[in-house]
Amino acid sequence: MAHEKHFDHVTGTETTGHVWDDDIRELNKPLPKWWLYVMYATIVWGIGYWIAYPAWPTLSGYTKGMLGYSQRSEVAADIAQAKAAQDTFRQAIDKTPLADIKQSPELMQFAMAGGAALFGENCAACHGRGAQGATGYPNLNDDDWLWGGTLDTIHKTISYGIRSSHEQTHATAMPRFGLDGALDAAQINDVASHVRLMAGLDADKEQAARGAATFADQCAVCHNPDGTGNTEMGAPNLVDSIWLYGNSQQQVAASIATGRGGIMPAWEGRLDPVSIKMLTVYVHALGGGK
Ligand code: HEC
Ligand code: HEC
Repeated sequence: MAHEKHFDHVTGTETTGHVWDDDIRELNKPLPKWWLYVMYATIVWGIGYWIAYPAWPTLSGYTKGMLGYSQRSEVAADIAQAKAAQDTFRQAIDKTPLADIKQSPELMQFAMAGGAALFGENCAACHGRGAQGATGYPNLNDDDWLWGGTLDTIHKTISYGIRSSHEQTHATAMPRFGLDGALDAAQINDVASHVRLMAGLDADKEQAARGAATFADQCAVCHNPDGTGNTEMGAPNLVDSIWLYGNSQQQVAASIATGRGGIMPAWEGRLDPVSIKMLTVYVHALGGGK
């Protein structure tokens, strides 16, 4: 049969000559030119990419490409750049006195970010993620300070620790009135009632009256006659309704009997001086720095 051109009568489009069931014909609709050229262009671009960039796996590695690009070298360059920027800030913090750091918003921002990261790594285990503390571990967000809340005292506390093995540590401790037999259980109960009453809590008035004399004799040296404490001794304020070891009659009596003696490690030697400075600025800024 001679091949003749056939046009579909509905669309007016030429058909390919393929016929099914005598009647069904395939329209000849080639791909648009623009589409074909875009496809050829992407093929050329793809081949160019293989040549220029790392592309094909080989037995021992991969084709490196003519440009020598690698994400590893990009990341290494980024890290080197970030580190150089950090070194500049760290050197500036090293040279700047603690009290002056906050005068430079840039330094302050760097110290706060660094301090927060260091705190998460080194301090959160004891003081909590948000420095909120726990029984025996002081909250560092409030303005109640056992050992003082100035930049200098906080720096000293972090550097040397509390009852730590460092020779410059805060060393005073409360006597173990019960364990060492200085007071018997009844006397401890009486003075505990006095402490609770001073703090505005419910307590047996008779016991408290007896305990008042013991307090004046034995406790006021460190906690002050009015119970407001003394940061030279690390003796907590007993009347500010913030309790390190709890305020039930039993907990207060246990504090008096055992002296507690909480220990905070020294960080000098474990952390570099710039890190300790950043932590100091961070802790000071958390809440109640003085
Ligand atoms: C092993 C547990 C532990 C770790 C870790 C720890 N601390 Fe402490 N920290 C304590 C204890 C316990 C006290 C309270 C000691 C006391 O009874 O006087 C304390 C007290 C403090 C104080 C004094 C608070 C005040 O009221 O005067 C500061 C400041 C402080 N810690 C900061 C830090 C920083 C910053 C870090 C991390 C570099 C850190 N601590 C890591 C246990 C820890
Ligand atoms: C040498 C100083 C010193 C003397 C004396 C002393 N304390 Fe203390 N007291 C401290 C220190 C330091 C602490 C904190 C202990 C710690 O942080 O582990 C403390 C803690 C306490 C606490 C726990 C407070 C809290 O927030 O949980 C109570 C209660 C207390 N003392 C009562 C007394 C009473 C009552 C006496 C007298 C019988 C007394 N103290 C005598 C230094 C002293």
